[in-house]
Amino acid sequence: MKELTDEAKKRLRSRSRLVHLGRDREVTQGFVNVPPFRGSTVLYPDVATLKNRNQRYTYGTHGTPTTDALTEAWSDISGAAGTVLVPSGLAAIVVALMSALSAGDHLLMTDSAYQPARRFCDSTLKRMGVETTYYDPLIGDGIAALMRSNTKAVFVESPGSQSLEVQDIPAIAASAHARGVCVIADNTWATPLFFAPHAHGVDMAVEAGTKYLSGHSDLLLGLVSANAQWLPRLARTIDDMAIPPGPEDVFLALRGLRTMELRLREAERQALALARWLEARPEVLRVIHPALADDPGHALWKRDFAGSSGLFSVVLKPAAESAVAALLDGLALFGMGYSWGGFESLVIPFDCASYRTATRWAPGGPTLRFSVGLEDIEDLKEDLDRGFARLRAAT
Ligand SMILES: Cc1ncc(COP(=O)(O)O)c(C=O)c1O
Repeated sequence: MKELTDEAKKRLRSRSRLVHLGRDREVTQGFVNVPPFRGSTVLYPDVATLKNRNQRYTYGTHGTPTTDALTEAWSDISGAAGTVLVPSGLAAIVVALMSALSAGDHLLMTDSAYQPARRFCDSTLKRMGVETTYYDPLIGDGIAALMRSNTKAVFVESPGSQSLEVQDIPAIAASAHARGVCVIADNTWATPLFFAPHAHGVDMAVEAGTKYLSGHSDLLLGLVSANAQWLPRLARTIDDMAIPPGPEDVFLALRGLRTMELRLREAERQALALARWLEARPEVLRVIHPALADDPGHALWKRDFAGSSGLFSVVLKPAAESAVAALLDGLALFGMGYSWGGFESLVIPFDCASYRTATRWAPGGPTLRFSVGLEDIEDLKEDLDRGFARLRAAT
């Protein structure tokens, strides 16, 4: 088999790149996959090399051929200068924020951010002397009015956690960059395949690899990719903190990478089919899915995104909590649990009202978030159909 040059790899379309990236023959010795390199100590051949650390691998916390395979592939598909790995998506958010902020700085955080990220800002970041202001995710270039002389970072998450507002990231980034402010994005919903973070002005992009990269709900992983300007700060922070993920998890993530586009495209197709079916249900007030033409975020999604994933939300017509519980408790195919992006379908009830501070969450009825997996869509509809019958019976 002929070895692909770097130039030839660049010309490949994304599905082919996902298959071929990160498989250096010198490492694999002809086996198809890079194995999980386990190790703390790396041996040096002589004193001079040891003193100068003049070799590719120097210690377990500084990377292995397994982590390199994943970070190189991820940087490529993200359009990034480099990527670092950490043991969870939340840790990736923390590392990105710690890389951009210092004591006395001010952070602008979208009100629609993943809730545990808010907790980090309101507890640890606050204790470290960083002040956070939450902003309306739909603010666009109005973000300029919230900038202070000490604002050092703007955090975006688009679409937002649970409520799925689409943000105008290019407008926010233009405003931030005019003031030298760093833009950090949680890009987990779209992955770099459906939203090219750095091409849209994001300086550091966070991905919870736990979701679509894994795709099998069997690992936790976080990735932060950075452009050339922010990579040195990010690399410094990660070296100082020394929190690498376990080698088996990186190995499994590399496996997930190979099929990520296929799974995402299928999740997209299934989720859209289910969203349209739910829209027509008499029990449903509104479906929140940016790829639906009447969604408020649709125009921005269409402008900036190359696809939609399997995660969307639904507002039910007003119903008692016990009736919603009757719908959910009897489901046989939709599991109830946190996280998402796996091969199996999930649903959770949610309510953002308790933690939103810059915007009011009043959707008009109980809300559910769906992560649509790979089951047959007709089976999923039948499961929900029986659930809606239970909801009606309990109302
Ligand atoms: C949007 C988003 N970002 C980050 C995370 C955190 O990922 P992890 O569970 O790997 O910490 C989650 C988890 O649900 C998430 O939904």
